[in-house]
Amino acid sequence: MKEKEAIMLALFLSYLVLITKGKYIRSIKKGANSSQFLIYRRVNKTIQMESGDIFDCIDVNLQPAFDHPLLKGHKIQEAGIEYRDDYMYGTRAIINVYEPKVKKDSKDLSASGLNINSGPEGGQADTIGAGYSVSPSLSGDGYARFHVAWDEGVLNKSCYDLTCPGFVQICHTFGLGGRLQPVSVYNGSQYVITILIFKDPNTKNWWLIWGEEKTPIGYWPHSLFTYLKDKGTYAFWGGHVSGPTASTDSPQIGSGHFASEGYSKAAFVKNIKIVDGNNTLVNPGDKKALAGSTSLSKFTVDGYEIDKDGMHTFYGGPGDLA
Ligand SMILES: *[C@@H]1O[C@H](CO)[C@@H](O)[C@H](O)[C@H]1NC(C)=O
Ligand SMILES: *[C@@H]1O[C@H](CO)[C@@H](O)[C@H](O)[C@H]1NC(C)=O
Ligand SMILES: *[C@@H]1O[C@H](CO)[C@@H](O)[C@H](O)[C@H]1NC(C)=O
Ligand SMILES: *[C@@H]1O[C@H](CO)[C@@H](O)[C@H](O)[C@H]1NC(C)=O
Ligand SMILES: *[C@@H]1O[C@H](CO)[C@@H](O)[C@H](O)[C@H]1NC(C)=O
Repeated sequence: MKEKEAIMLALFLSYLVLITKGKYIRSIKKGANSSQFLIYRRVNKTIQMESGDIFDCIDVNLQPAFDHPLLKGHKIQEAGIEYRDDYMYGTRAIINVYEPKVKKDSKDLSASGLNINSGPEGGQADTIGAGYSVSPSLSGDGYARFHVAWDEGVLNKSCYDLTCPGFVQICHTFGLGGRLQPVSVYNGSQYVITILIFKDPNTKNWWLIWGEEKTPIGYWPHSLFTYLKDKGTYAFWGGHVSGPTASTDSPQIGSGHFASEGYSKAAFVKNIKIVDGNNTLVNPGDKKALAGSTSLSKFTVDGYEIDKDGMHTFYGGPGDLA
């Protein structure tokens, strides 16, 4: 199957580094090196982009049917920033990577990243998201791995990576589910990932773009969705835990340290921007954002601010693992 997909390069605006307000946020902006992930899956299909670049990609028919219980029906505890906007066409953020502790014999997970959704009031939403998670029951280890995930609201169906048809992977150098390395060290070097999700105004598909180099990893076809067909109305950045014992015996989020510890000790998400109706990365509006946590004794949010570079916050905590 040959396919051509256009990527709107116009979207990829560079942004200015401007003077910041607080000392706190100045330190969040210190440079940090990027974390990378490795080739993980076999690929054997080739797609030519309009730009002329050729990417190998996975044959959709090879994607196994698999439905992991982790993804369904469990209450989520969130620390991070919630955002409501009637017209959202994507978001970009920089997230530092830690390996939060999750009990090895549990089916719990701890994830950090971003997602966009849209759905009926009180009903099942369409959601797309990307980020890292530690999930021993899924991967058999405690490493931070890069994942994409989505919910199809009308079908009440949740999937991640290539475990069921949906996400179309384009670039072979990025293995979904691959381990991220290196990861940040508490009170030491910080490593980040940069993720951009945006809706291509021509094809209406939702693209996932990796890194400062803006490498397309793949896309969610708009036909997967009902409520996300045209736009998103809600976004979240930060971390969450979920799973059978995630609320009673919570795993860590981020570094496992509270947000108030600040740069190099707490997890952060920074340079958050929204893609607006003009297909441009713009600053989020502060009245639409809500930074918080469902359980302040376990996880916190601190240093929340919006400035010219976008929105920033520290987040995370030890959960019930003191
Ligand atoms: C990034 O990595 C280089 C080379 O290892 C190192 O010299 C530099 O200090 C690192 N920067 C940060 C902010 O960690
Ligand atoms: C892709 O892999 C499948 C399964 O191994 C094989 O049947 C098919 O011929 C391969 N296609 C190409 C283009 O290599
Ligand atoms: C959606 O699926 C979950 C898990 O399979 C189930 O617990 C829940 O009741 C379903 N919701 C609806 C509205 O069907
Ligand atoms: C952080 O590192 C500095 C410099 O190595 C050290 O002086 C300090 O005690 C460390 N703090 C913590 C909380 O580990
Ligand atoms: C697009 O940009 C124009 C000109 O700056 C502005 O007037 C308009 O409100 C923008 N539309 C959206 C949907 O943001």
